[in-house]
Amino acid sequence: MKKVYLETFGCQMNVSDSERVATLLETKGFEITPNEDSADVILFNTCSVREKAEHKLYTRVGQVRNSSKQKPMVGVLGCVAQLEGETLFEQNRGIDFVLGTKAVGRVHEAIEEVDRTNKRFLDLGEREENYDWSVSDSQRQTPHIAFVPIIEGCNKFCTYCIVPFSRGRERSLPGSEIIREVLELKRKGVKEIHLIGQNVNSYRPKSDTGLETFSGATPFSKLLRAVAATGMERIKFTTSFPRDFHPDIVKAIDEHQNLCNWVHLPVQSGSDKILKAMRRGHTIENYKQRIDVIKQSPRNISLTTDIIVGFPGETIEDFEDTKNLFEYCQYDSAYIFRYSVRKGTPSAELNDDVPLKEKTRRFLELENLQKDIQNKVLASYLNKEVEVLVERKSSKNEDQMTGHTTCHKVVNFIGSNDLLGKIINVKITESKSNTLFGVVL
Ligand code: SAH
Ligand code: SF4
Ligand code: F3S
Repeated sequence: MKKVYLETFGCQMNVSDSERVATLLETKGFEITPNEDSADVILFNTCSVREKAEHKLYTRVGQVRNSSKQKPMVGVLGCVAQLEGETLFEQNRGIDFVLGTKAVGRVHEAIEEVDRTNKRFLDLGEREENYDWSVSDSQRQTPHIAFVPIIEGCNKFCTYCIVPFSRGRERSLPGSEIIREVLELKRKGVKEIHLIGQNVNSYRPKSDTGLETFSGATPFSKLLRAVAATGMERIKFTTSFPRDFHPDIVKAIDEHQNLCNWVHLPVQSGSDKILKAMRRGHTIENYKQRIDVIKQSPRNISLTTDIIVGFPGETIEDFEDTKNLFEYCQYDSAYIFRYSVRKGTPSAELNDDVPLKEKTRRFLELENLQKDIQNKVLASYLNKEVEVLVERKSSKNEDQMTGHTTCHKVVNFIGSNDLLGKIINVKITESKSNTLFGVVL
């Protein structure tokens, strides 16, 4: 039996694809191993979103080639594979096959082909008609939480972003299939699902099959109500695109306790001038209106975002606007990135005129501001009771268990393995950097 080691970089879509790749290989008679040294095949599922993410692949291929005596077969999957294709072979002698983002369902064929011919193999083709979206329990990252893709690809073409090129056009999965999947997960005892997609609220299936009987101002808010009706205990969703974020989403959350009180709404910049250059399709005024609706919800919805500093043409005044927006929104947390030029995107044609040192300075300044905001937000949980889904032992402290709240905050507490997979009430006693600490009630 051939052993396969699979390493994943990038977003939840990649994690989700990897779960499916592992499931498929298992059914085809391969063994998935966590140990790269004993593997016959090493797979990298890659990310291209920033230069650093892409470089990880090249570093890892070099390491594998130099460290391993038995010369495993090396396959590259995902976004770098899709974008670089054939050139990966030229630049990296250690790569045996390359599979694009929609070819991952044929991974077993690629391995067999390389085995048989001893030649390099490339597949950048489309998904097969009967692509299997299911994941076996053993291949899911955690047994109690499952990712459920609802839309793949992206049509937005923000000027800095490579994703529309690596993932192709938006394709929504039929509502009936999503509902069937969620019911199946519920039957298996999964407690929490994450509906995932580059922009979940742009969800637009070809027909509404399965959703007709549900109310909603958009197909996505209909889907939310339909998924809520399955009785799945916790439902989270990422990522939301501001322009397509309809207030009815908040209404659906207000109506259904199992739709979790967390919205991830990436803004990218606090300056209208920069938003326009990014072609995001929303202004700060529009964005704030959405934030106001979210903040007015009685559910105490937590709010997170992504932001890019140092986009071409970003002046100190534009950056000040971003800081002001952070003050306004009081985010529960924020992923801050330094602008990274991606070959082939529209903004790669612009002059990358903010020096790296200045990008780093803005990054740190914003990070500090966010830390202060975050400390305030976390402190507001002191002495409050939260619901935590117990996920695993804490990596830092043997006696502690860890999990997430409905509003997606990490909570650590003293506890034992018998709590795994349970939803428990925890009283918060302390908050430190990114984590809440508490006692089980
Ligand atoms: N679809 C989501 C997220 C896409 S990628 C959205 O539209 O928000 C995740 C994050 O990476 C983005 O939100 C953005 O903040 C960041 N990102 C994307 N391209 C980037 C680039 N070229 N340089 C720096 N950060 C980038
Ligand atoms: Fe990239 Fe914009 Fe699409 Fe998000 S919405 S994946 S940032 S192009
Ligand atoms: Fe990266 Fe591709 Fe996701 S570029 S962020 S792995 S869609």
